[in-house]
Amino acid sequence: MIRKAVFPAAGLGTRFLPATKAQPKEMLVLVDKPIIQYGVEEAAAAGVNHIILVTGRGKNAIEDHFDVSIELETFLEARGKTEQLAEIRKVSNLINFAYVRQGEPLGLGHAVLVAAELVGDEPFAVVLGDDVIDAQPSALKQMADVFERVKGPVLAVERVPESEVSAYGVVDIAESLGDGVYRIKDLVEKPPRAEAPSNLAIIGRYILTPDIFPALRATAVDRTGEIQLTNGLRRLLKQRPIYGYEVKGVRHDTGNKLGFLKAVVYFALRRPDLAEPFRKYLKTIDGENRA
Ligand code: UTP
Repeated sequence: MIRKAVFPAAGLGTRFLPATKAQPKEMLVLVDKPIIQYGVEEAAAAGVNHIILVTGRGKNAIEDHFDVSIELETFLEARGKTEQLAEIRKVSNLINFAYVRQGEPLGLGHAVLVAAELVGDEPFAVVLGDDVIDAQPSALKQMADVFERVKGPVLAVERVPESEVSAYGVVDIAESLGDGVYRIKDLVEKPPRAEAPSNLAIIGRYILTPDIFPALRATAVDRTGEIQLTNGLRRLLKQRPIYGYEVKGVRHDTGNKLGFLKAVVYFALRRPDLAEPFRKYLKTIDGENRA
């Protein structure tokens, strides 16, 4: 059973400036929910009941979002807005939250390391909120089931076009164990296209074991001054098998503008109250833009 999930959210979100100057990118909205809430709901659906958010300067809005808002609840109650009241109570009741500051954004590996004390000595998940995954059962639930089976760290992987491999950590496969599960031979962070061992890219979900912490502590900073999680995993791979798992679902990388826009359209078209008028609207602008 995976009880804890670490959500690294201390990055600066430079790709979304100026929107992220005074607002964390995790709070950008897909239809009517901030991006990070999709990940939190996914974790809750997988049985996680403790979320450890790794934050930095300017991230207070995330804490407020998951906290109880007495003023807002009183206001909605007084006006009989029961539906909205239930919706915002659901957010604050979702799960227990703990916050830890990263101080300086020294990389994803470092962000995971600052959560070490709060994680303690048990397997845990890492969720990168940028990757919003629509899946049934939830992506983390699928991975937790794989973890039960292989009893070792599980990294979510996805086949990406070869032109995109250099944006990801990429895995070299030792063997396929069936049903989308692989034993990993090696990992490379952001390889040039010609040097990529495969097109299986690591996406933003991990189930890790606590021995990742000493491995990360022993991992040197890279050329960019960051501690990469991939490099820590590579070190751990010398001590124990690590597995990749192709999640069955639809992933949106909302960390880049095009991916974000696609996700807004995708989720709006899945909303019963919006799908029909929105689809109609999209058809009209598609027509206008055609040469
Ligand atoms: P990204 O590579 O997307 O970086 O980080 P970023 O700063 O969030 O966004 P851009 O590239 O400047 O637009 C991947 C994930 O790791 C977290 C980020 O918050 C994001 O969830 N992260 C990254 C940290 O928590 N700390 C770090 O030092 C680096």
